[in-house]
Amino acid sequence: MKILAIETSCDETSIAILKVKNGDFEVLSHKTLSQVETHKEYGGVFPALAKREHALNLIPVLDSCLSEIEYEKSEVKLDESKLQKILEREPDLLKQFLEEVSKIGKPDIDLISVTHGPGLEPALWVGINFSKALSATWNVPVMPINHMEGHIYSVLMNDKEKADIKFPSLALLISGGHTELVLIKDWLHYEILGQTRDDAIGEAFDKVARLLDLPYPGGPEISKLAEKKRQENVTETSWDFPKPMINSDDYDFSFSGLKTAILYAVQKKEKLGQNDKEEIALEFENTVTEVLIKKTKKALDENGVKTLIIGGGVIANKHIRKSFEKMSEEENVSLHIPEQKLTTDNALMIALATFVRLERGEKGVFELDSIKAQGNLKLN
Ligand code: KG4
Ligand code: ZN
Repeated sequence: MKILAIETSCDETSIAILKVKNGDFEVLSHKTLSQVETHKEYGGVFPALAKREHALNLIPVLDSCLSEIEYEKSEVKLDESKLQKILEREPDLLKQFLEEVSKIGKPDIDLISVTHGPGLEPALWVGINFSKALSATWNVPVMPINHMEGHIYSVLMNDKEKADIKFPSLALLISGGHTELVLIKDWLHYEILGQTRDDAIGEAFDKVARLLDLPYPGGPEISKLAEKKRQENVTETSWDFPKPMINSDDYDFSFSGLKTAILYAVQKKEKLGQNDKEEIALEFENTVTEVLIKKTKKALDENGVKTLIIGGGVIANKHIRKSFEKMSEEENVSLHIPEQKLTTDNALMIALATFVRLERGEKGVFELDSIKAQGNLKLN
């Protein structure tokens, strides 16, 4: 069977097609259109703009995915009044849908899956409404998927046989919207051990970058500056920042105090030179890494976990990645990190989570009204 997965929870419009057979899978197509350049001038993701961009991008991305695969195409008849109702809040998408989808026809897709949360609700709704319009047109069921579950199962691309994933596993999810430690007791059974009480770690990277006059998204920029200092073998600087909650007796995180401490430190300085920026970047990166490692190690130890999965955009960070590699080796834990292009938001991870759910006997639904965007959806 073939799954078509759709992801629009933040600023990437992404679609993937996955072929599933006998407990195995094959990626047929995967396309992502990033809106980063559009959001850059606002210094962050602007929900109304993200919604508009998704509406404009979904049909071209679908078209380009389908053009990459060979498929049997049958004719479709568009039910205009039904589509108008499903897409009443997405006029741009409705117009394109009516113009383009009869040309696209009905491919041999058996299931549509779509991210229904967590994320920006206006952005999530576009993908959800699109999945419903496709479902109504192609007569194919829809399976809603939790975005964080997608980040977890993105590692299946490296470990198809799931040979090294032993339960309980621990997932550390670190992105622009999330920082959480999730205990995976078995496939699809989760317990959130801890999470951030304020800013997500990626958000902290982005905010500190702004204090240093660096462009959005800030993570890669901070990382570049810090890396420069590491190359120069700098270990000590004149800056010293607090390590929020590092010794607290729980698995929670907090990053807003750290950001404020950096703000005050920067304000005290008359002029921030390039060297200051590089040093602050280095200290900030070291501080957050230390906190992440400490809390994750505590969760591994206290829950008898031997498999660690790390997902989300922030694990693209070289220093964080290396530090976790070192810690896992010392702790004799098997570490799973997705390949670089699957660390950021993408639809392939949504397709992989769908694959896991199908394997556990779950099915898609035709009751489309039951599927809603849930900005704060939790894993459970
Ligand atoms: O997972 P993701 O693409 O989107 C969300 O679901 O949020 O994560 C995006 C976040 C941004 O905050 C970005 O600054 C951060 O990941 N990021 C990084 C790096 N690359 C991206 N943070 C630190 N170091 C990086 N190299
Ligand atoms: Zn994400």
